[in-house]
Amino acid sequence: MEAEQKGKYFPTEKLLEWYEKNKRDLPWRNTKNAYHIWLSEVILQQTRVKQGLPYYQKFVQNYPQIENLANAQESEVLRLWQGLGYYSRARNMHKTAQEIVEKLAGKMPDNYKDLLKLKGIGKYTAAAIASFGFDEQVAVLDGNVYRVLSRFFGIETDIASPKAEKEFREIAQNILPKNEKSNQFNQAMMEFGALQCTPQSPDCLFCPLESQCKALEKGKVNELPIKSKKIKIKERFFNYFIFEHQNKIALKVRNKKDIWEGLYDFYLVEHHEILQKKQLESIDLIQNYVNDIQSISKIYTHILTHQKIFISFFHINIDQKEILTQKNYQFFEKNEIENLPKPILLANYYKEFIK
Ligand code: ADE
Repeated sequence: MEAEQKGKYFPTEKLLEWYEKNKRDLPWRNTKNAYHIWLSEVILQQTRVKQGLPYYQKFVQNYPQIENLANAQESEVLRLWQGLGYYSRARNMHKTAQEIVEKLAGKMPDNYKDLLKLKGIGKYTAAAIASFGFDEQVAVLDGNVYRVLSRFFGIETDIASPKAEKEFREIAQNILPKNEKSNQFNQAMMEFGALQCTPQSPDCLFCPLESQCKALEKGKVNELPIKSKKIKIKERFFNYFIFEHQNKIALKVRNKKDIWEGLYDFYLVEHHEILQKKQLESIDLIQNYVNDIQSISKIYTHILTHQKIFISFFHINIDQKEILTQKNYQFFEKNEIENLPKPILLANYYKEFIK
């Protein structure tokens, strides 16, 4: 009931006018190709528009049809994804493309309900594809939309709480125009959140919704949306050993169900701290090479949503490679390494210090 009431007062036309004047010209807005829209949405869940654009272009160029993506090697897909992080998204997208090609003759489902049935597609992505690709009247809810709704209607529900999704979805669905404008409206809400109703220091003085915004009226713009549940950040310590043998370097695919699954990395010792040289004597396998260490890098940090990773690199030249090949490490030429999918931090380190 409350949602219906709230829904009545949303200034749809003002928002759409703002959108016409301010929208960015983005390639996925000029297509009805549902597969391309899907690619854009998966990429944009990972990153901001500016950083996502080149990835979108690369994926569309390399895999113009869903069959091209489905038939690609996973390592190639991961290589193209390199730098976006959260590699399970790329792997899931690849698998889902295969499922669509095998079971649906390569045709993306054309509605929200059927899109949701696909393993790799959740509510947000299903709604975005259904709305932008097929003009289905279904509300698209992302972090931007939560923020706009929370502020405009002065909603103080914790958006991290389980009940928030239902409440916000109902409101978003209620205020969605039930006509051909629903697609534009969804785009406009997201764009408005991204450009105007920004998380920090929004420019409320020049906001077209300013006279009706509850958060502004109550002086709560900076407090809303409320988001509790601080995630606990786990600290991890990765000690990488770069074993070099006759100008080749040992790498192996990570197969642990963990970050970077499917990517290549160097010989890794994960420990409860970054290792000091004198500690290496007690580390399995490494203890044999303590005197062969050529250099040790500074400590890098890599911050992910739930993890903070401290990383250090030890360079070791070796005469015999069998100890490593027995452990399934392969030795690659330096120029081959360039083309292997790697965690971005390793790729950058490699570029700077190994090539
Ligand atoms: N962020 C996520 N999806 C988007 C889209 N379609 N346009 C702009 N920014 C987005």
